[in-house]
Amino acid sequence: MVEPNAPVLLVAEDGKRYLLQAQPGGAWFTHHGRLAWDDVIGRSFGCLVSTDKGQPFLVLRPTTADLIRHLKRTTQIVYPKDAAYLVMELDLWDGRRLIEAGTGSGGLTLAFARAVMPHGRVYSYENRPEHQRLARRNLEQLGLLPYVELKLRDIGEGFDERDVDAVFLDVREAGAFVPQAEAALADGGLFGSLQPTVNQVTALVAALQAGHFVDIRVEELLVRPWKPSAERLRPADRMIAHTGFLVLARKTDRRYRLWGADSRTRRRAVEFGEAEEEEEGA
Ligand SMILES: C[S@@+](CC[C@H](N)C(=O)[O-])C[C@H]1O[C@@H](n2cnc3c(N)ncnc32)[C@H](O)[C@@H]1O
Repeated sequence: MVEPNAPVLLVAEDGKRYLLQAQPGGAWFTHHGRLAWDDVIGRSFGCLVSTDKGQPFLVLRPTTADLIRHLKRTTQIVYPKDAAYLVMELDLWDGRRLIEAGTGSGGLTLAFARAVMPHGRVYSYENRPEHQRLARRNLEQLGLLPYVELKLRDIGEGFDERDVDAVFLDVREAGAFVPQAEAALADGGLFGSLQPTVNQVTALVAALQAGHFVDIRVEELLVRPWKPSAERLRPADRMIAHTGFLVLARKTDRRYRLWGADSRTRRRAVEFGEAEEEEEGA
C-alpha cells in the first residue's frame, strides 16, 4: 500500500518514469494534468491512477536501483549494476560498519545504508559542502539518515573510525588514499574502489601491493539489455559500455606481497632478493 510520504514511481503509457513523493494534501502538476496524492495514498502498488485530464499512470514501488537512477544529482553516480555487486563483494549486511568516500550525491550511500541497516553504519566522507548538502537531502527524504554519518573532510586527513569491516573509495586517484584506508580497516577487512580509467587502476593496484593487501582483483561489469519482445527477442541496439573498473582487495595484518602470486613472480622475487621482505613480515 502507498503510505503517506512514501517514494512512488509513476510510469506513463509511453514508458517515461517519474520518481516522486506521495505528499498528503499535495498534488503533482504536469502537462498531462494534476494528480492529487490523496487519490494515490492508500492504494496498492501496481494500480493505475489518472490525472484530472484523464492521463493514466502506473503506480510502482521504486526499487533501490530505481532510487539510484532517479536520484537528484550533481556528481557522477555509481550505477546500480556496480552498486549491487559491491554490496556482495564488500560483504555488507545488517550490523556491518563501512567507510565510503566521496559521498557525492549519495547514490551509493543509499544502497550501502539499505544493506547495513538497522544496526550497521555507513561513515560517508565528502570534501565539498554543496555535495554533502544534496546527499543529506536525498538520504533524509528516504528515511536513511539514521544509518549514515556524513562527514565533511578531505580524506587525505584520514578517517576517524578504526576496525571497520569495509572501505570503499569513489574518488579520483584513490591510490593516494590507500594508507588512510589501511589504517581504518580491521585486519581481514574488505577494500573496494571504482576507477574510470586504466591509469588510475594501475596506480591503485601498485599502492595496494605496496601496502597490507592481498587478493587484489580488477573487474568490470557489463550489462547488455535485450528488447523484451516474445516474437522478436534480441539485444537492444545500444548499451552503456563503460561505467568504471572495480578494484577489490583484502587487508592483512602485515605485508604478504607474494601471497597468491604466480610461480614466475615468486622466482623473480627470490632472484632479486625481494622475497626476504616477505620473510620479515611472515
Ligand atoms: C564520483 S563522486 C561520488 C559519487 C557517489 N559514489 C554516488 O554514487 O553518488 C566523487 C565525490 O568525491 C568527492 N571527493 C573527491 N576527492 C575527495 C577527497 N580527497 N576527500 C573527500 N571527498 C572527495 C567529490 O567532491 C565528489 O563529490
